[in-house]
Amino acid sequence: MQNNPMTPAPHKVIRIDAETDLEATFRIESDSPPLFGQFYMVSLPRIGEMPISISGVGPGWIDMTIRKVGKVSQAVHSLTRGDTVFLRGPYGNGFPMEAFQGRHLVVVAGGSGIAPVRPVVDYYYRHSDEVARLDLLFGFKTPDAVLFRQDIDRWKSRFDTILTVDDACGVWDGECVGLVTEYVKNIKFSEPGRMDVVIVGPPVMIKFTAAEFIRMGVHEESIIVSMERRMSCGLGKCGHCKIGEYYVCLDGPVFRYHDVVRLVD
Ligand SMILES: Cc1cc2nc3c(=O)[nH]c(=O)nc-3n(C[C@H](O)[C@H](O)[C@H](O)COP(=O)(O)OP(=O)(O)OC[C@H]3O[C@@H](n4cnc5c(N)ncnc54)[C@H](O)[C@@H]3O)c2cc1C
Ligand code: FES
Repeated sequence: MQNNPMTPAPHKVIRIDAETDLEATFRIESDSPPLFGQFYMVSLPRIGEMPISISGVGPGWIDMTIRKVGKVSQAVHSLTRGDTVFLRGPYGNGFPMEAFQGRHLVVVAGGSGIAPVRPVVDYYYRHSDEVARLDLLFGFKTPDAVLFRQDIDRWKSRFDTILTVDDACGVWDGECVGLVTEYVKNIKFSEPGRMDVVIVGPPVMIKFTAAEFIRMGVHEESIIVSMERRMSCGLGKCGHCKIGEYYVCLDGPVFRYHDVVRLVD
């Protein structure tokens, strides 16, 4: 373990899987298992640093699914197997897995929001007796943008799963077209007091999806969201990620919706 939490430590990239034109999953050697929903600050010397969620965890490794958008993410995409990437963390609070025990859990993800919930769903795929029921609702802009298709097909064999695209682009082989909000009503609802709903995605998607679940009777305090904000230190020192009274890096990125509802843009 590193002593100074601000000092990035070198880690080896042991596998790279292309997911879409813009996203790839990097498997990185690591023997300190993070909590699902936590993130690392990922850096390359002389290039920069960025926060990235964990999209998978296994013995001696973690996965990170990185979208190529700017300087650091592009540089990470140019790495090959065996190269070194620098990490500090893990940071943040993670999903409240204990609170989900024995309950009906619904996981909703939009676009790359599926990355942080992938380890959660995979965990319940292996331990399905720990929740009363799990429903999945995933939305992507286009068929080309669908992430983790093989995982989704595997999860479908065990859980009711809705996969939708905003625009079928004439090539979609799935059943659903339209925004995730349109499919909330297709989920089998339990008594509202027995349900938890996890929503991860762009702020506008979180806002309208949460509103739809609340309209269907789910309690606001049973909705859990993960928020992304621009970050610098990642550990509550610089204030870059502050929204309202919260430091997203320290108090989040996972929040109860009723705590942050007025802060979701
Ligand atoms: C807690 C957390 C977890 C994240 N997890 C992932 C992940 O698993 N995979 C992934 O690909 N990305 C993730 N991100 C977003 C990622 O950190 C940014 O895309 C990254 O900083 C881009 O760095 P860059 O140098 O490549 O691009 P930059 O040059 O810094 O930015 C490129 C573009 O992205 C925008 N941008 C940068 N950061 C953010 C942000 N936080 N929110 C919205 N827009 C932003 C910039 O305004 C700019 O338009 C996460 C962010 C946070 C805060
Ligand atoms: S990123 Fe510095 S306080 Fe959160």
